[in-house]
Amino acid sequence: LRPGVKPQLPKIIGHRAIASLAPENTLGAVREAARQGVKWVEMDVSLLADDTPVIHHDPTLERLSNSTGTLCEMQLVDLAGVNVAARFEGWGVEPVPTLREMLALLSELKLGFNLEIKDQGLDPARVVAAIAPELSAFDPAKLVISSFSEALLQECQRQLPELARGLLLSELEGNWSDKLESLQAFSLHSHWRALNEQTIAQAKAISCRVLAWTVNDIEEAHRLLQLGVDSVITDIPQQFGSVDDRAPD
Ligand code: G3P
Ligand code: MG
Repeated sequence: LRPGVKPQLPKIIGHRAIASLAPENTLGAVREAARQGVKWVEMDVSLLADDTPVIHHDPTLERLSNSTGTLCEMQLVDLAGVNVAARFEGWGVEPVPTLREMLALLSELKLGFNLEIKDQGLDPARVVAAIAPELSAFDPAKLVISSFSEALLQECQRQLPELARGLLLSELEGNWSDKLESLQAFSLHSHWRALNEQTIAQAKAISCRVLAWTVNDIEEAHRLLQLGVDSVITDIPQQFGSVDDRAPD
């Protein structure tokens, strides 16, 4: 059986909230996405050593912040003073948000959420056990959990069976649709280059929604939506105008 909840996806999802306009995976970026009329955002979650789930893409702090360190070796207190907007020109200070803080803001702004669980090489049961209680107050109709890791998604299947799960794939080769079926996935999250009429039809044949990432070309995005892709995940959601305000075709 597939998860009971089947979220209504928008056509446009902001990647790392709205990566072209604001520092990725931050509270400020989510506020900016909401200001731009974005309905859903995709962001990444990782675990600290003390099991606090935080919103951050990389396993380390180096690329984005004014600090250094590996998240799975740090405690929440170690993040005090870390500015993840440090390399985003013209922006103020942004902390590493906890998942809890981010979910509260998303609820307040009524945004939908594609939560991507990063594979840090930790025990999947531990990772999902840390995330699961945080999600209990969030509207399940506005949430899709995704991961490149089948092990993490299997654990979601066990601990959060009612929530929609999506498998992230860079290529559609081999037995990819069997993997979706065995995970009872709600959605396929594919690199956009792997999507064509045939692969989209194959995913639809097993009742999976199809999301394409990361599509930063407007023409390409419209072509994919025309082909039947349900949502495109993009750094430039602000450039799609009112695509999601239109009545369904
Ligand atoms: O979830 C889609 C996309 O975010 C996957 O790649 O590296 O940007 O997290 P990445
Ligand atoms: Mg991601």
